[in-house]
Amino acid sequence: MIVPTRVLFEHAYGKYALGAYNINNLEQAMGLFRGNMESQAPFIIQISKGARAYTDKRMLEAIIRTADQIWPDALFAVHLDHGDEQTCYECIESGFYSSVMIDASHHPFEENVAITRRVVQAAHARGISVEAELGMLGGVEEDIKVDEKNAFLTDPDEAKLFVELTGCDSLACAIGTSHGAYKFSGSQGIHFERVAEIQKRLPGFPLVMHGSSSVPQEEVERINAAGGQLKGTKGVDPSHYLPAAKLGVCKVNIDTDGRLVWTRVHREYFRDHPSEFDLRGPGKIFMAEYAKFIASRNELLGSAGQLAAAREHAIKK
Ligand code: G3H
Ligand code: 13P
Ligand code: ZN
Repeated sequence: MIVPTRVLFEHAYGKYALGAYNINNLEQAMGLFRGNMESQAPFIIQISKGARAYTDKRMLEAIIRTADQIWPDALFAVHLDHGDEQTCYECIESGFYSSVMIDASHHPFEENVAITRRVVQAAHARGISVEAELGMLGGVEEDIKVDEKNAFLTDPDEAKLFVELTGCDSLACAIGTSHGAYKFSGSQGIHFERVAEIQKRLPGFPLVMHGSSSVPQEEVERINAAGGQLKGTKGVDPSHYLPAAKLGVCKVNIDTDGRLVWTRVHREYFRDHPSEFDLRGPGKIFMAEYAKFIASRNELLGSAGQLAAAREHAIKK
């Protein structure tokens, strides 16, 4: 059942975080639904601009609608990840999305406010909620490169003002993480003190953590042993998801880790079966491995086992 993102946040706030997982194709969708059902977790499906353009956006929507029929007990929201203003309007108009993210964080504060306000007005008119972003994550967001040196954390006072001025429903904050497989150097990690300050200014308001992949080292080692060349990777410590959730982080975005599972499965498969050329061989292994990965993340997010209670909450709303 597709439900409003807001309803999932209400249930999760302060107790656990929802895994927000990106999908691009059928195999990811299958693994995602299986993993969430196995771990009995509510979840968020994220579709980025790139994912919408990869095949045809209608294909992904059809996959999700069909998965909803195959797993009628699944409870999830569908979210546009890192939208620009135009893509937000398209998703709002489509009537398919539970929420959209307007990412205008690369603009100066006033312009970010103005763009976000326009999207909020259009979205709220259709009962859709809006995630906005303030502050800059290091790494790469869609086609915007943010030099790590210029990455800056979200200012708590600005965050409060931004939410008041825009009316957005959740806020992606820069709290030390970045997108991709190369997040930190040295002993850096999530800036919990900053999350706590933001929560103090915005009590009860859903916060979002982007760049949350954990980049498991054993995954990277297996990829490299099968011909990959990933050096110096580092991710978020996944035991930090739950402490972040207790500070109001309701949505934890994970994409890179799924790509690593895909890469490991396919590299190992073709290394070990050099004469094979059937895509279903690695595809089957990937779906099973991705489901296992999703279930393991949901355990760490605290969303595992919350499906029945979250459904009860959603039905009451
Ligand atoms: O934050 C970006 C997500 O990982 C989506 O990546 O734009 O390549 O689909 P993408
Ligand atoms: P990762 O690159 O850490 O998976 O982050 C994904 C993300 O933030 C999607 O919006
Ligand atoms: Zn992101």
